[in-house]
Amino acid sequence: MSSSTDTDDRTKVVTLVQQKGGSGKSTLAVNLAAVSGQNNPPEQTDAPCPVVAAGIDRQGSLEDWSARVAEDRLPFDYVVTKGRLGEIPDLVEDPAVKRLFIDTPGFMETDPDAPEDADPLGSGNTAKAMEEVLERTDLALVPITPEWLTHRPAEFTIERVLKPRGVKFLVVINMWDSGSDRVNAEGLRPELEELRNWCRRHGYPFAAQAIRRYKIHAKAPKEGLTVIQYPESGTALRAREDFYKLALTVEQAL
Ligand SMILES: Nc1ncnc2c1ncn2[C@@H]1O[C@H](COP(=O)(O)OP(=O)(O)OP(=O)(O)O)[C@@H](O)[C@H]1O
Ligand SMILES: [Mg+2]
Repeated sequence: MSSSTDTDDRTKVVTLVQQKGGSGKSTLAVNLAAVSGQNNPPEQTDAPCPVVAAGIDRQGSLEDWSARVAEDRLPFDYVVTKGRLGEIPDLVEDPAVKRLFIDTPGFMETDPDAPEDADPLGSGNTAKAMEEVLERTDLALVPITPEWLTHRPAEFTIERVLKPRGVKFLVVINMWDSGSDRVNAEGLRPELEELRNWCRRHGYPFAAQAIRRYKIHAKAPKEGLTVIQYPESGTALRAREDFYKLALTVEQAL
């Protein structure tokens, strides 16, 4: 977390966190790291990348993805801790690392009988790994989608995990279907507006730029592509635009 003695050289940590699986944590972590990496290339060709994507996920979805991207095309380094402790703090302390994007797993409330206000992360291994990350997080991104099933877990994540720890956060609207969400008589996109209103009602800050739903994103992990490498097309341009704008918002919030 930031303090007044921080300098701009300090590693800035952006963490994707949302209790609900499948809301886009890994997609956002990899593509934000790709855009950030493109803007922060290594000083020499053999120097380490100043941008690192780290997965604490035991499934290692980040690893599967990144391993498919050709090394020379990957503008960031990646690390998969598989929940091992100590690796994230080392990265944060590493003067060569400028930006660290951390992908976390969806999590469960560990004890169903725990009191209402108990820490939902519990005390297991995953909890310790999450704790280590959250303590060092400068900005948490909480993805929600038009699927209402992601909203309650987002609220839970914010109210029970982020707020009690004083972690700064932004909600990111993901998988917005801009094609079917037509402009109405008031000049608004009703589905997008509903998602924004959900954030407003809760008093949650949100990124102005929603990430649109494109098949190309869903195919990307298998093909080992990040948004900066999608083959040229109108969709690729729009997909990139979403991530460039989100990356700017993230930088401004840091
Ligand atoms: N904007 C998008 N457009 C289309 N598909 C998307 C988009 N964002 C994510 N997806 C797809 O949705 C699925 C879930 O996304 P992702 O794996 O990033 O979620 P997650 O939050 O990391 O899930 P988990 O908690 O299980 O790790 C993936 O198949 C991914 O490719
Ligand atoms: Mg994931």
